[in-house]
Parts: sequence; structure tokens; C-alpha cells
Amino acid sequence: MKKLANINDIPNEGSKLVFLDETPIALFKINGKIHAWDNRCPHRGASLSDGYISDTTIQCKYHLWEFDIKKKCALENTKIKINTFRIKIINEDIYLI
Ligand code: FES
Repeated sequence: MKKLANINDIPNEGSKLVFLDETPIALFKINGKIHAWDNRCPHRGASLSDGYISDTTIQCKYHLWEFDIKKKCALENTKIKINTFRIKIINEDIYLI
């Protein structure tokens, strides 16, 4: 397993950008839960870790597309999916599995 970060590296209701080789991964901490998403917006590739974070959505800052955190897809078109990563937390460290 590859360690991505420690959960304390991510602000509450915030994000942290990490890299897995060349792949940018946005780690979000929302209501105490960690989410690992491909950082590249499915629209034009802008950084989702810089987006607006709410309890239920991440909104890309570039063209304001919104993505549902639970469903991992665009609000306006559920066929537009977010690529996510499976993680495991051990002793507050976040690992890719
Ligand atoms: S690049 Fe994200 S909405 Fe356009």
C-alpha cells in the first residue's frame, strides 16, 4: 500500500493535493470522512482540490460544474463520473489500496 498523507494534513472541510506518480489526487475531508478523487475536473481538467467544498458537493472553480460527493458524478449529468481511489486509514495515515 502506498501512503498518500496523514489525515491531520487535511483541514476540516478542506482539501490537500497529493501525487501518485504523475496522477494528481485530491484528498477531501468532509464531516470527518476522507475522499480521494482524481484531481482533474472531468470537464477541462481544472484542479478540483481548489474547488468550493460543501457538505454534499465539490464545485470546480473554473466553470462551476458541481459534483455530488456521495454519487461521485456531476449534478447536472450523472453520466459524468469522477474517478475515485480506494483508501484505507491506519493510525491516521491514508493509504491507497
Ligand atoms: S474545468 Fe471544471 S468546470 Fe470546467
